Amino acid sequence: MVTERHPRVTATRPKILVTRRLPEAVEQRMATLFEARFNPADAPYSADALVAALAGSDVLVSSITDRIDVDLISRLPESVKLIAQFGNGFDNIDIEAAYAAGLTVTNTPSVLTEDTADMAMLLMLALPRRLVEGAAVLPREGTWPGWSPTWMLGRRLRGKTLGIVGMGRIGSAVAARAKTFGLTLHYFSRNRRPPALEEKLDATYHETLEDMLGAVDILSLHTPLTRDTHHILSRARLRLMKPDAAVVNVSRPELIDEDALIEAIEGQRLSGAALDVFEYLGGIDPRLLELARTHRVVLTPHMASATLEARLEMGDIVIVNIRAFVDGHQPPHRVLPETRARA
Ligand code: 8YV
Repeated sequence: MVTERHPRVTATRPKILVTRRLPEAVEQRMATLFEARFNPADAPYSADALVAALAGSDVLVSSITDRIDVDLISRLPESVKLIAQFGNGFDNIDIEAAYAAGLTVTNTPSVLTEDTADMAMLLMLALPRRLVEGAAVLPREGTWPGWSPTWMLGRRLRGKTLGIVGMGRIGSAVAARAKTFGLTLHYFSRNRRPPALEEKLDATYHETLEDMLGAVDILSLHTPLTRDTHHILSRARLRLMKPDAAVVNVSRPELIDEDALIEAIEGQRLSGAALDVFEYLGGIDPRLLELARTHRVVLTPHMASATLEARLEMGDIVIVNIRAFVDGHQPPHRVLPETRARA
């Protein structure tokens, strides 16, 4: 039995620590409602610095660049009762450890769905239509050879088959867009979606990912990172894809065995990839950068949900979560450990 830390924060203006810079309007609103401390330098905190900075705080407003693991959770000051993540994903937080420590964790789902889905489409088009390569010509050369029938030939998106891994909120939003772009849809998801949605999207469900991989021209990942989905696109599974297929990832880098992906593209066993997320903490793999230079890969630096609108709405949701919690209510976007969320 887990004893939750008393949800009611006694102060009317709870003390919050916000680990990264947020849009001005969000910070201003937070400063009005809470006793808020911000991070004007915007540099991620080290674990020690975060623990020290949290002294006396009721709420930690975290984001993906904060690693809130079991060790950090055990060192959090007793005053901290809520971790209000500014983000949809929360794989940077050990939810089980937080729950066991009696902490409440919230996130900001929904408001970044459409922007993230737009970006998935952008990347899906950028690769076969050679957008990055084409857009670089004029700034570099100042001119171009002029139109010719064989200039910048890419490949058509319409008529291709898209495989979606994870038909949740974002996966479904991508599917709806992809259908209007004339793609045939296949999907693999932990839970099969209702027949009405499958019919609307004309989407074919696969019981296993293995079953779907050989059928698709583009694979787009929209599943959260969990123990089960780590390297869900493994070396063995990459081998099942068609050699002229491509991978799109706007979710989390750890969903893919990046080494195997790079080798598959280098070895012409996969045509390319468009990645908004990739391993970078230990340095970006130079082979990946080289593939980007030669336009086999499109790399965008984790910007799928980066619109001002999304950030403002994420800020709003963080505020609502904190307010509800402080007032003694169940915050609307509470995150539970997987086992409990499923129960
Ligand atoms: C966010 C994301 O911008 O919300 C997510 O899960 O991946 C991002 O696009 C980031 O996590 C903010 O913390």
